[in-house]
Amino acid sequence: MSGVRDGELVIGPLDDLAAMRRLGVACGLEDEGRADETIAAAWGAFDDGELVGSIALERYAGLDTANWLAVRESHRRRGIAAALYDVLEREARARGIPRLCVTARAPAFWLDQGYEPLPPGRESDTLLGGCLDCDQFGRECEPRALTKRLDVTGLRDS
Ligand SMILES: CC(C)(COP(=O)(O)OP(=O)(O)OC[C@H]1O[C@@H](n2cnc3c(N)ncnc32)[C@H](O)[C@@H]1OP(=O)(O)O)[C@@H](O)C(=O)NCCC(=O)NCCS
Repeated sequence: MSGVRDGELVIGPLDDLAAMRRLGVACGLEDEGRADETIAAAWGAFDDGELVGSIALERYAGLDTANWLAVRESHRRRGIAAALYDVLEREARARGIPRLCVTARAPAFWLDQGYEPLPPGRESDTLLGGCLDCDQFGRECEPRALTKRLDVTGLRDS
């Protein structure tokens, strides 16, 4: 498997999107039921071959988004989410994506990665739209619509 190595942990491409969804839901994420076709790429963190973290680059409603970020509770606060996000952002830059968005249920993590709040409007409505019908909304989860501009100038030539 190709990918970034971090001690015993391997980060690499993840083809099993059903496993990614299962991990995300087990970690409290809501599956909004979009088709797999919206997922441009996904990565997993594997501990001895077992999936313990995941993230996906997803495009829907005209937005490039970072989704399905989840790390198994036993493996948290070791930098796994940051390492997964790093791979996603590098891929987004390589694809020439100028801006990423996220529906952040853990805003502290995303602010740490350089994300900023999206002003109210169509894009934040799109990102938060699915949340309004969710049982967790305003209770376990107070999501925020965030965005990060990527500098992709000159990348394709380097
Ligand atoms: C959010 C989540 C993915 C973070 O995974 P993680 O591997 O523990 O995160 P990292 O170790 O890479 O954390 C990197 C930094 O993000 C911030 N951060 C991560 N989790 C945080 C938390 N629960 N509260 C506050 N800050 C947090 C910290 O700044 C942290 O750096 P530090 O540990 O040096 O302080 C994980 O807690 C999770 O799966 N939560 C449930 C699902 C979820 O909410 N996913 C996010 C969807 S938007």
